[in-house]
Amino acid sequence: MIGIILGTRLEIIKMSPVIRECERRDLDYFILHTGQHYTYEMDRVFFEELELPEPRYNLDVGSGTHAEQTARIMTGVERVLVEEASDIVLVQGDTNTAVAGALAASKLHVRVGHVEAGLRSFNRWMPEEINRILADHMSDYLFAPTEKARENLLREGIDEWKICVTGNTVVDAVYQNLDISMKKVNILKELDLQPKSYFLATAHRQENIDSTARLREIVRGLDSIQKEFSLPVVFPVHPRTEKRIRELGVETNGIGMTKPLGFLEFLQLESQAKMVLTDSGGVQEEACILGVPCATMRYDTERPETLDVGSNILVGAEAQRILEGARSAASWTARWRNPYGDGIAGKMIVMVCAAARSN
Ligand code: UD1
Ligand code: UDP
Repeated sequence: MIGIILGTRLEIIKMSPVIRECERRDLDYFILHTGQHYTYEMDRVFFEELELPEPRYNLDVGSGTHAEQTARIMTGVERVLVEEASDIVLVQGDTNTAVAGALAASKLHVRVGHVEAGLRSFNRWMPEEINRILADHMSDYLFAPTEKARENLLREGIDEWKICVTGNTVVDAVYQNLDISMKKVNILKELDLQPKSYFLATAHRQENIDSTARLREIVRGLDSIQKEFSLPVVFPVHPRTEKRIRELGVETNGIGMTKPLGFLEFLQLESQAKMVLTDSGGVQEEACILGVPCATMRYDTERPETLDVGSNILVGAEAQRILEGARSAASWTARWRNPYGDGIAGKMIVMVCAAARSN
């Protein structure tokens, strides 16, 4: 029995290739949703659009401080794993769901597989950096997306035989859904946009959004891009960001704010954008895969492969640097190669899990 633990939108997206492969191979598995994300646009829409089976369990943990959320997830995961005799559980990435799921499982001596292991920003102010380090060190199977990620793990003393370089499941998700997105949705028409004639922005990192100064700078930077290029800046707003913009009364007139979008809509917008500006991890990767220039509104990244191949630049969180980043990156031609694999990560991960079950 394979337990797939997920709780946030990107975990649903990045686990979808693994779930599809378990379905295809008719394996015994279950989905445990922690409920870290719960509003329709952050959760259900992805199950519907990606046609994923219902989770067998939903812990409904909701939002809270890091300790509250992590503790609720651990208690709930433990309860489920005591009932379900799992051979292995899979967690993904660097969320509170991933670290709490891994910790609860490993204390019950259930083997843990970490999907997207070995990423490092080397910035411990990020809650995600702490989560990913801990999840890696608790895991029995480390599915590293790239050779760089593997090297990070080896440097920290993790046994070589536990690591398998698979590529990133985000490539599978993009390849599996881009055509479907082009057939099923027409978000450009809905938003009255022309291909390659708009910027796409997202921002939700705690260190950007909870800092009033940084949030204001990011909004000012996006506004100045819209003014300089006379092109729309489309900004699907994460609920954390929406709440802070509202609380602080930040002026967002020049920016085309929308509610968070479904994956099919977002993927289509990304693929046709002039460039993207983001602090998201997944969006840095997807832009690289789709051949769209990216400026990352952070001072570091755990996705250095995107910098190495030349699809991404770090512009920090100051308005002037964000504008300069757009000036530079908007004209890039996509000649880079995708460093995240050929879209078979989900298959490789499930193959290893299936073999683990029989050991
Ligand atoms: C979490 C992850 C982050 C990941 C992101 C994906 C952690 C520490 N952070 O950040 O790594 O990049 O998910 O999107 O796990 N909210 C809602 N509806 C929801 C979910 C959240 O309104 O469905 C609001 C709540 O006010 C909540 C806030 O957003 O307090 C933040 O949610 P939370 O899950 O704590 O962190 P994210 O910023 O989403
Ligand atoms: N995404 C989406 N709708 C949106 C914004 C993002 O479907 O309005 C998708 C995006 O394609 C990517 C994932 O959400 O696959 C990224 O999630 P997020 O930025 O929340 O988290 P991170 O990757 O930073 O952990």
